[in-house]
Amino acid sequence: MDCMIALLSLYSFFNINNVCFATDDTITPNKLLRDGDTLVSNGGTFALGFFSPGNSQKRYVGIWFNKVPEQTVVWVANRNSPINNSSSVVVKIDNKANLAIFDGNSSNPVWSTQVSIPLTDNINSSSLFYKLLDTGNLVLHDENKGDFLWQSFDFPTDTLVPEMKLGLNLKSGLNWSLTSWKSRDDPSFGDFVMSLGGRGSLEYYVKKGSRVMWRTGPWNGLTWNGLPVMTTDFIFHSTLINNSDELSISLNASNASSIFSRIYLDVLGISRRSTWSEDTHRWNDFVTAPGDVCENYGKCGAFGSCNPNNAQICSCVPGYEPKSHKDWYLRDGLEGCVRKRELLCGKGDGFLKLEKVKLPDTSNARVDMSLGIKDCQIECRNNCSCTGYASAYVDGSGCFAWFGDFLDIKEFIEGGQDLFVRVDAIELGKFC
Ligand SMILES: *[C@@H]1O[C@H](CO)[C@@H](O)[C@H](O)[C@H]1NC(C)=O
Ligand SMILES: *[C@@H]1O[C@H](CO)[C@@H](O)[C@H](O)[C@H]1NC(C)=O
Ligand SMILES: *[C@@H]1O[C@H](CO)[C@@H](O)[C@H](O)[C@H]1NC(C)=O
Ligand SMILES: *[C@@H]1O[C@H](CO)[C@@H](O)[C@H](O)[C@H]1NC(C)=O
Ligand SMILES: *[C@@H]1O[C@H](CO)[C@@H](O)[C@H](O)[C@H]1NC(C)=O
Ligand SMILES: *[C@@H]1O[C@H](CO)[C@@H](O)[C@H](O)[C@H]1NC(C)=O
Ligand SMILES: *[C@@H]1O[C@H](CO)[C@@H](O)[C@H](O)[C@H]1NC(C)=O
Ligand SMILES: *[C@@H]1O[C@H](CO)[C@@H](O)[C@H](O)[C@H]1NC(C)=O
Ligand SMILES: *[C@@H]1O[C@H](CO)[C@@H](O)[C@H](O)[C@H]1NC(C)=O
Repeated sequence: MDCMIALLSLYSFFNINNVCFATDDTITPNKLLRDGDTLVSNGGTFALGFFSPGNSQKRYVGIWFNKVPEQTVVWVANRNSPINNSSSVVVKIDNKANLAIFDGNSSNPVWSTQVSIPLTDNINSSSLFYKLLDTGNLVLHDENKGDFLWQSFDFPTDTLVPEMKLGLNLKSGLNWSLTSWKSRDDPSFGDFVMSLGGRGSLEYYVKKGSRVMWRTGPWNGLTWNGLPVMTTDFIFHSTLINNSDELSISLNASNASSIFSRIYLDVLGISRRSTWSEDTHRWNDFVTAPGDVCENYGKCGAFGSCNPNNAQICSCVPGYEPKSHKDWYLRDGLEGCVRKRELLCGKGDGFLKLEKVKLPDTSNARVDMSLGIKDCQIECRNNCSCTGYASAYVDGSGCFAWFGDFLDIKEFIEGGQDLFVRVDAIELGKFC
């Protein structure tokens, strides 16, 4: 630690202008980054430096695509603590291995990585540096250890780039989620958060406060059940990571170094998958969600099913009828559906299949990934409060069993999965 302080004081003692400013991809304890300086990753894909978003005069430290002429910021360090005076600001490593932004000669940083590792024999300043990787990840390296001691990928802002993750790190408690910007001029926390929800299922929700705005549908082994099948989506590959350390989806992309791609949550809570087109010199959004009215969460209410291609978009799942006929004809499905007749459990009731649907919200489902579809049916049949079940994965494995309302079903022409709805004997008879 002494060595480090000595190092910094030494540089303060000499004229600050003589300090070798960072021009490459690393910040070491004896380098400073000032407004106007940038780090550029090794392959030239990403840059880190100061920027002002939109019409703002305020200064932020961020990471953007270096080769994309339209400045596209993917990460912001001090998103909630803007800097007012660009001439007095520096980014440097303090004596606890924090990378920090200092305004003027105040000793309180505007922002810091908050690693606070005392520089001991194990971690010493000469082996320690922050490096901007070509994936866009800013990492704290300790040459004497393999691991990253800190990485910006652990603190996403509103954007995912390939190799980032969304989900939970069960060991560190990190919750990898996206939070929209407040406006195009202001990267501070906006209204919308996208994070892993569900209980045991991998389903992502976009919420405004506690209100769910839309959800992706559960991960089905290939994609999110609620997103349309994307033949054009060759660029992104998603990988499920489920082990004792984490439950997440990792995003990857083919040709990430030549095709620039990102997924971001815009200021209105819309998720956009976007790639940079060299031909048109624009970002092309090739998938946005919510993509239609049926993706607004709970559009058709409990036990309602939404089909954007029908004149009357809401209908009821088999065995159910609109709770209020008046609302239904006003095309307001919010009141949802109720059972046509009381269910006499165990008296000839059974299941009807609803094909190609976005499965209902899994947050009130019982999830058991070890059960196959046969056992899933048995579990549901044996409990009178079970309203339906489905395979979790497209290969037929895993079990979702609902004990309560179905919420937020959407019908697809292609894609989706089968949902088995518990109905009474009369309903079954009709279809036999
Ligand atoms: C910048 O100015 C705003 C308001 O003028 C103030 O709230 C904020 O604390 C200032 N930021 C810094 C880093 O001094
Ligand atoms: C900004 O910082 C510089 C250098 O410390 C100082 O000379 C200048 O007065 C500051 N400007 C404002 C508006 O505080
Ligand atoms: C920096 O420190 C010097 C001496 O301690 C002080 O005179 C000056 O006002 C400080 N500047 C800022 C911008 O805080
Ligand atoms: C500090 O790190 C350097 C570079 O890895 C190493 O050569 C040196 O032995 C380390 N010093 C201590 C005291 O651990
Ligand atoms: C993760 O963060 C989001 C947004 O703050 C929150 O809604 C969600 O419940 C968190 N998940 C866990 C498991 O803490
Ligand atoms: C992502 O893809 C690249 C190239 O296709 C590969 O080298 C890399 O290992 C992949 N990363 C993950 C986390 O799968
Ligand atoms: C990705 O790169 C490989 C090899 O450079 C190339 O053959 C392939 O066409 C590229 N894929 C896309 C989608 O551009
Ligand atoms: C993750 O793995 C655990 C243990 O194998 C399993 O119980 C759980 O259902 C799995 N979750 C998912 C979403 O696959
Ligand atoms: C049926 O499921 C409900 C909800 O999970 C549970 O509370 C109840 O104990 C179960 N009943 C039986 C007979 O297993």
